[in-house]
Amino acid sequence: MKADLLIKNAAQLVTSRGASPAPLRGKNQGEITVLADGAVAIKDDKIVAVGTTADLEKRLERNQKRREIDASGKVVLPGLVDPHTHIVFGGSREHELSLKLKNVPYLEILAAGGGILSTVKATRRASLEELVTIAEKYSRQMLAQGTTTAEAKSGYGLSTASELKMLRAIKEVDRIQPVDLVPTFLGAHALPPEYKDDREGFISLIIEEMLPRVVEEKLARYCDVFCEEGVFSVEESRRLLLAAREMGLELKMHADEIVPIGGAELAAELGAVSADHLLVISKEGIARMAGAGTIAVLLPGTTFYLREERYAPARAMIEAGVPVALATDFNPGSSPNNNLQLVINIACLYLEMTPAEVINAITINAAHALGRAIEIGSLEEGKKADIVIFDAPNYEYLAYRYGTNLVDKVIKNGNVVLEVDNNG
Ligand code: NIG
Ligand code: FE
Repeated sequence: MKADLLIKNAAQLVTSRGASPAPLRGKNQGEITVLADGAVAIKDDKIVAVGTTADLEKRLERNQKRREIDASGKVVLPGLVDPHTHIVFGGSREHELSLKLKNVPYLEILAAGGGILSTVKATRRASLEELVTIAEKYSRQMLAQGTTTAEAKSGYGLSTASELKMLRAIKEVDRIQPVDLVPTFLGAHALPPEYKDDREGFISLIIEEMLPRVVEEKLARYCDVFCEEGVFSVEESRRLLLAAREMGLELKMHADEIVPIGGAELAAELGAVSADHLLVISKEGIARMAGAGTIAVLLPGTTFYLREERYAPARAMIEAGVPVALATDFNPGSSPNNNLQLVINIACLYLEMTPAEVINAITINAAHALGRAIEIGSLEEGKKADIVIFDAPNYEYLAYRYGTNLVDKVIKNGNVVLEVDNNG
């Protein structure tokens, strides 16, 4: 066997178990393989073998020149996958912090023209080049924290030109730096000021003008809607998503985050790939999602940052057989965090997920939530060599330590794209 990179001697090599044609759910949500003295062999951009160091060294051609990485005392994981982010936006929203501390509700800030709408102003003003520069910086921050693939939404343009500008920025950022970005069109993120009194007009604009352009220029794989009281109703969301599906996009939803209006039920009904947030999901919603196999993308960093009392009922979802993925929801308002390592901590402590369940939620299930599980999300022969080495003696340590970036090395498409000297 030939390889040009060998990672060996890992204290633990951790990956979801076996090939996974469908997202992991129920008992399987927590099934992982932990290999002591683990190794991965890589040729070009692909994994060619996974096993113990002794096993791989035996199988590898002798005298072949290759780089070897000694991962002694470290944990090797698949590159992390962040399946829900709003990585492209203009400006920032630190001025809202004082309102939050006065307990002004998130939806009230939005209704007063702030929140998402203040980011819309800044994003409309920004040029394509400016958006690319900022989002490239955020992508590189993600990479440095172990993320090798992320979803990226539009939704701060809310006019045809600005939504297209955002999606073109995502495409360009995907091209110029290592993190793979999977684009989602979120034209229905809020009602822009110029349509304040014309909901119907804005929905028609999305369906008749924005969606056809997005599809024609192949700028998005998914269509998402912020289905929430005071934003887009279940009925409006259904119309928008049906139109998107008709035009060939796959579906995602911001659902049942603040008021339980039946977003999860709609996601299941329409065959959405995922429903995201779900803090206040109903029992019926859980049952429908389990029945349809809809992935729950939970965003506990947002719950933490909005200081909500109630986290998404992750345990009930896992018990009911809903596959769970986790994401940062990186955005300038409700979650200015792009580090999945922090999400590991919050998910364990407040969603009461086990470290093994969380690992699957940010690797293989997250890859399923982006339709990429055939290529990424686990360490298996034939998959892309997207790998993170953490300076941690075992995988539980990642759930235990918090606030320190434990990344030691990141390998993307078989190249070592980031190396940290943690001992130096
Ligand atoms: O997922 N909930 C809606 N959208 C984002 C927040 C966007 C913002 O506040 O800028 C979210 O939390
Ligand atoms: Fe979001």
